[in-house]
Order: sequence, then structure tokens, then C-alpha cells
Amino acid sequence: MSTGITDQYRRSFAELLAEAFRQEYPELHASLGDVELFSAEELLDRLERPKDPGMGHFALPIFPWLRHLRAKPPEVTARIAERIRTLQAGNGQTLAVEGVSGFLNARIAPEQLAADTLDRILGTDQPVAASDEGAGQTILIEYSSPNIAKPFGIGHLRTTVIGNSLRRILRTLGYTVVGINYPGDWGTQFGKMIVAFGIWGDEAKLDGPEPIKHLLDIYVRFHAEAESDPSLDDRAREAFRQLEDGDPGATTLWQRFRDISLREFQRVYDMLGVEFDLVVGESFLNDKMQVVIDRLHAAGLTKESRGALIVELPDDRLPPALLKKSDGATLYLTRDIAGAVWRFAEYGYTQSLYVVGTAQSDHFKQCVQVLKLLEDAEGSSDDQRIGPRIRHIDFGWIKFIDEDSESGSAKVMSTRKGQVILLEEVLNTAVGKVRDVIEEKSPNLPNRETVSAQVGIGAVIFSQLSVRRQTDVTFKWDEVLNFDGETGPYLQYTHARLASVLRNAPTIDTVAIAWGELNHAEEQRVLELLADYPEAVRSAARNSDPYSISLHLLKLASAFNRVYQRKGEDGKIDKIISDNDSRTNARLALVAATKRVIGEGLNLLGIAAPEEM
Ligand code: ARG
Repeated sequence: MSTGITDQYRRSFAELLAEAFRQEYPELHASLGDVELFSAEELLDRLERPKDPGMGHFALPIFPWLRHLRAKPPEVTARIAERIRTLQAGNGQTLAVEGVSGFLNARIAPEQLAADTLDRILGTDQPVAASDEGAGQTILIEYSSPNIAKPFGIGHLRTTVIGNSLRRILRTLGYTVVGINYPGDWGTQFGKMIVAFGIWGDEAKLDGPEPIKHLLDIYVRFHAEAESDPSLDDRAREAFRQLEDGDPGATTLWQRFRDISLREFQRVYDMLGVEFDLVVGESFLNDKMQVVIDRLHAAGLTKESRGALIVELPDDRLPPALLKKSDGATLYLTRDIAGAVWRFAEYGYTQSLYVVGTAQSDHFKQCVQVLKLLEDAEGSSDDQRIGPRIRHIDFGWIKFIDEDSESGSAKVMSTRKGQVILLEEVLNTAVGKVRDVIEEKSPNLPNRETVSAQVGIGAVIFSQLSVRRQTDVTFKWDEVLNFDGETGPYLQYTHARLASVLRNAPTIDTVAIAWGELNHAEEQRVLELLADYPEAVRSAARNSDPYSISLHLLKLASAFNRVYQRKGEDGKIDKIISDNDSRTNARLALVAATKRVIGEGLNLLGIAAPEEM
């Protein structure tokens, strides 16, 4: 089941149009043969979605066809609309077609939309968006990748939650997905850490409750003191060289920093509910770089420049790719090139996504260009080429505005100066704030603690996924936690409310639903959004951006709220559960389907959907 309901109707409208043109204008068909303009494929491509929902679900602008038809627009639209009616005779006039000034508009018959959409959602235990479009394809997604010996700051939040969500989305679409965490556990900064720990390190603090804070303190101190004492930098370079050479003392210390950090990070992942299939840091590539450097060398692509080893790139907006420094130390870029090669050998990926901030876009361009040069030089065939499979999934900045602080100004973070907003603190604050609200508003709620965590953390996650990924995010507590705004809590609350309606309702008879009971505009709008949900999921996958799901869920929740608030002819609220059994049954089916889709969508975003809150 790979296409959404609306896709099926779109296709049948295109097919009806093609057939109607063929029958109405046989001369044209005969004279132009299989003119592509009149093929169902071509027509399908040209169908539009009217902005004004009053105009129906699909529209064909007929102007491009007029030239071939030698007729006036109203005549053409009237003939085609009539012909489509005839073609549908006997099978229920699924599509109501009408000509309106140069357009042929089609609307899915309300009962048909209700029947197909709800049958499809309620008739299966599979995820509503499940499909097999990704069958046989492997996609690697690398995300999070924080740096060892540094605090897990809010700067790594966005990559973590975008990647985690993409992993879930792509799985649902049938791809084989490998979610990778690639911690920054190698590089010259570890030389600095080793030297700093040798001078100012405190064993007791490293074993204490805040080891990372201690590591950050001495790292900051290193930078401060190195300004007046450059010999520190020389010592750091030497320490990193020792580490690269496998010196046991340096290695043991590094290993400790690494273990401590990974343990701290895991706490944050557990809170966020974030998972990986593979954790391999930069250090894993230590013994995998030289082979690639040798290949680049054999291909005649490497050059020496002031003692360093580089590859010059054809794109002169990019600096040359630096593979080794003059002291022989390898670089971040060297490791990424080797990493792409290793991952391809291991997984044979069709695509490899790197969810990393926009600031690193030149880095990934360099990486891709080096691979391209190498693959061109080696005459690789398409199925061996890695370069074209790599995609940098970039995203904008987070500006954190803390109203609780005096200035309330946006904070920009720099680890070197020790300014970090700890992600764990942000999550704990969110949970605490939600707990306060719940204790005030629903003191009798069972599982208050679990729900506070689900909602607080869900709110933080949603704040990152509710804007397009390339847009900067401003994080403000009152916006993120607002239960009525366009927030995670609002969606969770809508979900819980739907769940509560169902808890207190008679069981739904899914066999005998009177579809005609769902013909009001408010209900039809919900049905359209339900029908289009799989397309929102596919669009998230296409753009590697969970945003389209967030947006779709917000639309759906607010459309459903209009169903709740709908007033009947008597001016009274049209209650979901009324004494009209057949109507109650149909409306409950709508509630159940909406709850399913909101719950599933939240799940794809990596957000819990509580039944009660
Ligand atoms: N550790 C890096 C950082 O925090 C991100 C790593 C991104 N991934 C990669 N393959 N380069 O900036």
C-alpha cells in the first residue's frame, strides 16, 4: 500500500480526463496520434490542487490544450465534464467534475472520501503511512555526533531529533535504515585535554558527579592560558601525536574521557528516547585513513604544500582539502572521507545522510569533491561511486531565549569560553514546568511523572521539528510549552482528548458506518487531511525534513477542533456522542482515525502520545 487516498483519486481523474478527451475529440486523437499532452501521465502531471477548497480537490487548467482543440473554454469544459459523468455512470460518480472558467475541477464525492479514508485507516494494524517504496534500499543517517569531553549542549539538539525522526520515517516507508552516532572522539583537542588534565586535572572530580564539567573547566583554562603561553599548544600537538601513535598513557586517559562522556550522553538519549543502530566515533577510522590516502596518491591527486598533504579542488570557492598537517596529524576531513568509504564497503548504501549544521556545508562539499576526483580518476562505475550518494542534511541555528535570566537576550554558545546551555538541564526544566502545570490542573492524573516527562520532552523535540530545517529556531519557554499554540503539548493534548472521547463511548461498529453522516465541511476537512497524511510522510522523506509531518498534524488537530466546536442548526454544539446512533457511530470512527494518525505522526517525530493528560 504505497499511495495515499488522494493519489488514487488524482490518478483516476487523470485517467477519466484522458478517456474523455479521446472520446470527445476523436479527430484530434486520430490526427495527432498518441500526442503526449492527452496521455493520462501528462494530465496527471498537470493537475493542480485548488487553493480555494470550494473549488474541489483537483483542477486541470485547460489553456495548454485549447490550441489543439480549436474550441472555446466553456464548450470544452462542458463537454468533458459531461463525458466524465457518462463514463462514471454506474459506479457511483466518485468524482464530481465541473467546468469553471478555464478549469476542470473535480471533487471526491463526500461519502466516497469518508468510506475510503476511514476504511483504510481503521481497517489495518499497519502504520497508516506504511509503504514499500524503500524496499531493497539502504539509507544511512548520521545524527547527533556530539564531542567527547564536552558537555552535551543544546547545539546538538536539532541534529539529534531530526535524525531520530528521519530514521523512523524512512523505516516506515520500507527502507533499510542504519542510524549512526559518530561522536567526535579524535583530533587535536584531545592533545589539549591530555595536557590540561596533566596540569590541572583532579582525579576525584573525574570520578565525581560532574566529570564533564571538570573536563570543560580545564579545557577552558587551557585556552585561556595558551594565549600567554604558546608552549602549551606545542605540548598539546605532541600529546596528540602520541595518541595517534598509540602511546599507552595517552590512550588510557583518552579512553576514560571517552567512556565518561558516552555514559553522560546516554542519559540524554534515554530522556529523549533517541536510538542508534551503530555508534562509531572518529577514532574508529584511525587505521582506515591511510588506504584512502594511498589511493588518492596513486591517482595522482595529492600534493605537498608547506609540508602538509592536500588535494586541490576544482571548485575555487572551496579551500583545498587538507589530509595531513605538516606534523603528520590527520584531520576531521580525512576521517570523513575514510568514513564514507568504510560505510559504503560495510553497508552498500543507496544514500548516506549527514544531519549536521549549515556551518559545515563547505566541509561536506570538500568531502564529496575529493571522492568525485578519486572516483573519476579510478574510472569507477556508477554502482561503485560514493560521491553522489552523500547528502549533507543541513539545518539552521538555535537561538535560546531564557526569560528567566535577567537580560532575556539570546545566548550564543562557544565551548571554548565555557558557555554552554546543557541539554539535560533544558529537558529537566521542561519536565519541571509541565509537572507544575499538571499538578495544578490535573492533580488526580495517574502517572503524573511519566506524563510530565512525555509532554516536557515532547515539547522540546517538537520545537525543533515545527519549523523547516533550514530555518533558524528561537527557543522561548512560553512558546514551546504553550498548550494552545502550535506546539507539541497541543498535539499531545488533542490526542489525549480524542482518546478520552473513545474511552467514554460505545464501541464503534466499523462494518456499518453511515458515511453520509460525515458530509459537513468540518468533517470533510478532517477527512481530507487524514487522506493526505501518507503524502505528508513521503514529503518529509523526500525533503529529509520531518517538518511536513509537524505541519500536517497541526492542521489536522485544529481541523478536528472545529469538528468539536461545530454547531448544529439549533445553534447548539453538535456533540460527538448524541442520541442519533448512526451519526454517533460515524463520528466516533472519525475520532478513532484522527487519534490514530496524530498518535502515529507524533511517533514518527519521536514524541510520545499519552492517552491521558
Ligand atoms: N562532532 C561534530 C560536531 O560536533 C559533528 C560531526 C558531524 N558528522 C560528520 N560525519 N562530520 O561538530
